[in-house]
Amino acid sequence: MKIEGKEYRTIWFDDKNQVVKIIDQTKLPHKFIIKDLKTVKDAINAIKVMEVRGAPLIGGTAAYGIVLAIMEKNDPNFIKQSSDDLINSRPTAINLKWSVDRMMKKLSGVNNNEVLKVALNEAKEICEEDIKFCENIGLNGLKIIEEIYNKKKDTVNILTHCNAGWLATINWGTATSPIYHAHKKGIPVHVWVDETRPRNQGANLTSYELNEERVSNTIIADNTGGILMQRGEVDICIVGTDRTISTGDVANKIGTYLKALAAHDNKVPFYVALPSSTIDWNTKDYKDIPIEERNSEELSHIEGLDENNNVKKVLIYPKKSKAMNLAFDVTPAKYITGLITEKGICEASSNGLKKLFY
Ligand code: MRU
Repeated sequence: MKIEGKEYRTIWFDDKNQVVKIIDQTKLPHKFIIKDLKTVKDAINAIKVMEVRGAPLIGGTAAYGIVLAIMEKNDPNFIKQSSDDLINSRPTAINLKWSVDRMMKKLSGVNNNEVLKVALNEAKEICEEDIKFCENIGLNGLKIIEEIYNKKKDTVNILTHCNAGWLATINWGTATSPIYHAHKKGIPVHVWVDETRPRNQGANLTSYELNEERVSNTIIADNTGGILMQRGEVDICIVGTDRTISTGDVANKIGTYLKALAAHDNKVPFYVALPSSTIDWNTKDYKDIPIEERNSEELSHIEGLDENNNVKKVLIYPKKSKAMNLAFDVTPAKYITGLITEKGICEASSNGLKKLFY
């Protein structure tokens, strides 16, 4: 998708300089900086500090992390240790483990002097596949937006949480892909963007990328969605997910669950968009999903532009206060109208998922 009119992906391999390039998302929206990842440590750090974030993108970064490890030291012990470190860099998004496992499986038994070539091809393939999947999610989700538009004959108001946009994937996004497809087709859409405290991925990333694609959007405080739904100002909610378990329960950015409850109470359809790389077929109980707890500084401090246009970080809490920063919550399947995947739309249930994927 575009930034200042130029097409980008969130991650790519620079063949000439033999480095991985990323858009540093910790600097957005105020600065657009492309950063080089040269070592597997760089890739692990980029995932941890969220220079790259969003389930599919951290999967893609981990795949390139394996490539960087091989470039540093083509030694099976080092590659295995690096794969474990990559998997442990963030706990909730299953795409991370999915992609590292896929890379390691592909490399198993490969001749030492072929390993780098095979790894690089597979990392590129993981990213290409994600783009195709996200595009298909968009085409499938477009049908739902079209249906609403055909009934309403007026702007379709869509609420989304966090950033499940193209910046969270390699291109297109998951939740935003149906929105971009509708917009490109000329259907009038407007997006209510949850700010998504504490890291403000909604305000800083979703609104930013929608602006760049000229999709009408309004940032709202995280607590505003409920009243908008009561007023009939939300036609549909579409969010992403970091891990959808075999029962159809969905882990996503903290606050998603409360949006689903409000949507349920107001009979607003609540959809979750995901590529199959986000499905955790092994977990049967949502209580077994590891929920990331991040540094409470993400809550107590806030970053923005000062009067001289310099980025500044300030403390907004009382100095003596404690804060707790859980990064994800789980939305039970019963509150989800449907899962929008690359293969089609299904019920959020083990039957629904099985019918689509087996
Ligand atoms: O902590 P983040 O920014 O990595 O969390 C991202 C989300 O919760 C997204 O909604 C999710 O990864 C889906 S991305 C298409």
